[in-house]
Amino acid sequence: MSNPDALFSPYRLNALNLPNRVVMAPMTRSFSPGGVPTDAVAAYYRRRAENGVGLIITEGTGIARPAALNEPDLPRFHGDVALAGWKKVVDEVHAAGGRIMPQLWHVGQKRSKAAADWAPPVPYESPSGLSGAGELVGHPMSEADIADTIDAFAQAAVDAERLGFDGIELHGAHGYLINQFFLEHLNQRNDRYGGSTLLERSRFAIEILKAIRSVVTPGFPVILRLSQWKPTDIQARLAETPQALERWLNAFADAGTDAFHLSQPKFWEPAFPEFDGELNLAGWAKKLTGITAITVGSVGLSTDVYQSFAGKSAQAVALDGLLARLERGEFDLVAVGRPLLQDPAWLNKIRQRRFDQIADFTPEALATLS
Ligand SMILES: Cc1cc2nc3c(=O)[nH]c(=O)nc-3n(C[C@H](O)[C@H](O)[C@H](O)COP(=O)(O)O)c2cc1C
Repeated sequence: MSNPDALFSPYRLNALNLPNRVVMAPMTRSFSPGGVPTDAVAAYYRRRAENGVGLIITEGTGIARPAALNEPDLPRFHGDVALAGWKKVVDEVHAAGGRIMPQLWHVGQKRSKAAADWAPPVPYESPSGLSGAGELVGHPMSEADIADTIDAFAQAAVDAERLGFDGIELHGAHGYLINQFFLEHLNQRNDRYGGSTLLERSRFAIEILKAIRSVVTPGFPVILRLSQWKPTDIQARLAETPQALERWLNAFADAGTDAFHLSQPKFWEPAFPEFDGELNLAGWAKKLTGITAITVGSVGLSTDVYQSFAGKSAQAVALDGLLARLERGEFDLVAVGRPLLQDPAWLNKIRQRRFDQIADFTPEALATLS
């Protein structure tokens, strides 16, 4: 495999100094009974910090709305008990020399297959209460609900900074609440949070970013995670052209995001093959905005996360293609999911060129918090 040194150069994200370019991708683990992260969760993140991961983004964690989450053992990010659990996580990671940000999350109307018989205390809420098939399956949010949700995101960011987290990531990807506002078929609102253009349907996300920016210190990094695909069609694109992407992303940059985390299943897939055969989504984001771009998607693995969710193994593969893109400056940071879920020492093995000790990803790893 090529020389991996490019992964180990420092990087500055707003006021945060990162020792290297590797970010642990946010991964829901459902190991926080009643919404409270346990000591085992703290130890799980600490192991990744001990093994040199530059920045950990936690699993999605629910803001203070009664229907923010869709499983009982997903961690909450509000209430004294859950926040005390998170404080332990931060302290463990910092004691091991790491950096960590919570991924702030609201699932909207998206149900969990793993906890199909569980429901939050109030109905699921979303822009128009609609399912993908257009049926009314939840509560269409009122403007007061929206205002309260924006406040809850901002309060979570305040709490994150108070607890000592190194920044926050806002989950705007993968069909959850913020993403549901972007999607025309799920957002049929006639007020200022809806509209026929993607930019109009982005007002909710923009207001959250502005609210967060107004309550955290200027140096505190705020990352926005986005994906292009639609729940009904993995090949579809929210921003259909580079020009549309430029307008969309710059609206978030103006609202105060410090970085974009561009989620795609395979980092090597071009975002706009008809315009530039090479650049992935993070590459386009960096080119169009100039601000920090994080790529993700099957780094070091042969197949994507959906194959793993379907029970298939993924082969460990060399990082050459990724390293070439990083060296070219196509993006700044590289998020790694499954390899770091399975093996806390993955990055140290890369650093020490112990490539032969990197195992294939097996879906059994999804079931444990090792
Ligand atoms: C078990 C698991 C849980 C995940 N949970 C989240 C999540 O909470 N938030 C999120 O934005 N992405 C989540 N993802 C997606 C990952 O962050 C990442 O984008 C995806 O796994 C692709 O990276 P990889 O190929 O390196 O695994 C999850 C992935 C896995 C495997």
